[in-house]
Amino acid sequence: MGPPGAGKGTQAEFIAEHLSIPKISTGDIFRKNVSQGTPLGAEAKKYMDAGDLVPDEVTIAMVKDRISEPDAVGGYLLDGFPRNVAQAKVLDAMLEEIGHCLDMVMELVVDDEEVVRRLAGRRTCRDCGQIWHIVFDPPADPEHCDRCSGALFQRDDDKEATIRHRLEVYNEQTAPIVDYYADRSMLVGVDATGPVENVTGRAIAALRRMES
Ligand code: AP5
Repeated sequence: MGPPGAGKGTQAEFIAEHLSIPKISTGDIFRKNVSQGTPLGAEAKKYMDAGDLVPDEVTIAMVKDRISEPDAVGGYLLDGFPRNVAQAKVLDAMLEEIGHCLDMVMELVVDDEEVVRRLAGRRTCRDCGQIWHIVFDPPADPEHCDRCSGALFQRDDDKEATIRHRLEVYNEQTAPIVDYYADRSMLVGVDATGPVENVTGRAIAALRRMES
């Protein structure tokens, strides 16, 4: 977890690869549905464009389906879920019901102005989902992905006014679950400033400490 732009998607990619488990990102699933024009996408888009949370009943059912897929049998990394205390409580119940358990919760810590700088320059690959930044992590060709040559796009919710609203939503609705997990001794805070590879190093070191 962490505010919008903390680097959750960027780091989740590396951590999931390191652990050989799938990354399950609710934001990515919603965006995929929006681009495919599904009813779920049409419903989610209204909230995403405004920077608000998609209603819990929609999000929770979607996560329940996704974690029941065969590739999730050996574990998974959740990115962007849970996002409020109600979702955190439902996740606990859902995991208990299917005999899974939460090993750790990682919080990426970064300040608001850095968030705005990061999100204003973010570009995402339409084909492979790779995340780039026009200044901090630029692709060789500003319009195409270095990894797969797919076209890069800017997210609709990455306008400054929407970013600031997403930060408010994070502080009001998501930040309280930091305490929820800290009280259960599951939370590890990671300094998410500095180069991407340094953040990855700190995140993987935190995972190792948790394992030992
Ligand atoms: P979601 O996609 O989850 O968005 P978010 O939480 O706002 O987070 P972001 O994806 O914007 O940022 P990130 O932390 O992943 O940063 P990134 O790695 O891309 O959700 C979008 C929407 O979907 C929500 O607003 C909501 O409507 C809905 N939704 C999703 N989940 C939901 C839920 N559970 N319940 C209800 N609604 C839900 O990095 C950002 C940029 O910074 C990139 O350009 C990257 O290259 C750059 N960068 C990364 N690390 C560094 C670094 N160390 N230094 C410099 N630049 C960096």
